[in-house]
Amino acid sequence: MTIFVDIGSLDDIPRQGARVVRTAQGCVAVFRTADDQVFALEDRCPHKGGPLSEGIVHGTSVTCPLHNWVFDMNSGAAQGADEGQVRTYATKVQQGRILIDATLIRASRAA
Ligand code: FES
Repeated sequence: MTIFVDIGSLDDIPRQGARVVRTAQGCVAVFRTADDQVFALEDRCPHKGGPLSEGIVHGTSVTCPLHNWVFDMNSGAAQGADEGQVRTYATKVQQGRILIDATLIRASRAA
């Protein structure tokens, strides 16, 4: 079972924007879609390491800011002709707060 931990308010992230959370497993980009869904992905494009947190959010996808690869934020898979996979992390929103998989945070505090 996944244990979740509060990382801040949904309102801290603009719609179609992102926030970076630093963890022991690297930087995680937490995205908010136009309709207030939240996704957490590794903040590193599998192509050449572009910061996905600076990418463009459209629907439930994000476009890498460097060479425009598009990733499905549900699965982390590259779309179209591009091949690649970004790690995704469990998230949920409860009463306006963003919760993410606690194993990430715990790992970062222990480090
Ligand atoms: S680094 Fe992301 S598309 Fe090239």
